[in-house]
Amino acid sequence: MNEKIDIEFANKIYKYIKNNMSIETFMQKFNINYNELMGILELLSIYGKDVSLMRVDDTVVFKKSSPKKINSNINKRLPDELIHTQLAVVSDTHFGNIHQQLHLLNLVYLEAYKRGIDTVLHCGDLVDGNYTNRPEQPRQQFLHGFDEQVGYVVDMYPKVKGITTKYILGSHDESHYKNGQSTVSKWVSQCRPDMIYLGQDHGKININGIKLVLDHPGDGSAQSLSYKPQKRIEILESGYKPKVLLIGHYHKSYYFIYRNVHCIEVGALCDKTQFQQKKGLSNIMGAYFLDIYSDKLGNIEYFEAEEIPFGNEDIWDEAFKDKKKVKKLVIN
Ligand SMILES: [Fe+2]
Ligand SMILES: [Fe+2]
Repeated sequence: MNEKIDIEFANKIYKYIKNNMSIETFMQKFNINYNELMGILELLSIYGKDVSLMRVDDTVVFKKSSPKKINSNINKRLPDELIHTQLAVVSDTHFGNIHQQLHLLNLVYLEAYKRGIDTVLHCGDLVDGNYTNRPEQPRQQFLHGFDEQVGYVVDMYPKVKGITTKYILGSHDESHYKNGQSTVSKWVSQCRPDMIYLGQDHGKININGIKLVLDHPGDGSAQSLSYKPQKRIEILESGYKPKVLLIGHYHKSYYFIYRNVHCIEVGALCDKTQFQQKKGLSNIMGAYFLDIYSDKLGNIEYFEAEEIPFGNEDIWDEAFKDKKKVKKLVIN
């Protein structure tokens, strides 16, 4: 009976807590002190609801993690000889668009730093680009053209001690090449040794023996979340079938396993744009943290894809707030 009450209480409290809600607001609402708050967070974690605290400026706020997808292998004792790999994955930052959300990218890097992660993968569309067939696009941007957008990446992309960013370029990045053969990666990686380029649209990488592919398709979304990614898996070269496929471009957030490939559609770190609004496309925001145990041959024994969802409450919809108020995240 008591346990039932606890579950109901945990569900209610978890629903009430919102990302970025200050703990002060919460404690005042329920008239509790800090120690009682810690007790509540402990109770939530017992019922699988992870809520952590993060300091943003001078305020401590809640951060909710989505329920973790636990592979059944967790029940087996992990042999000591398995290799542990932790990664963070982001995508579609669209820098230069007035809907960019650099502060959310900063949050992901800060969390990666706290977890001791040394590699962040970016699945393309670093910048918003310049489409000559979209005359309305400049109005939706605060940075125009190649120099301004690439200069912003060089200046403002999080720079965190011990973290290397490995990235591919996407369709929006490539628009600069199509306009005047200017390559975003050439300048970004020349100026930022912590940012390593893997390829246009597609990049292969081997981390601790695990084969991963970063993919940025150029087509439109499908109704079914998994349909397009499944097709991507089917056309992968037989000689390099990855264990993990990370897909940007669709601005969707979804994890599934297909043909023994762990496939993740990585959400965007940019709010819905006017183009998406017009086309009736949804825009899911988020990032992923991957926790992998593999053998020496790169076979995955345990895989956890932890989704970090960002919702309306996380968005700074004031167009220029992100540009004016966000400081570059630098940890030396
Ligand atoms: Fe995109
Ligand atoms: Fe794209």
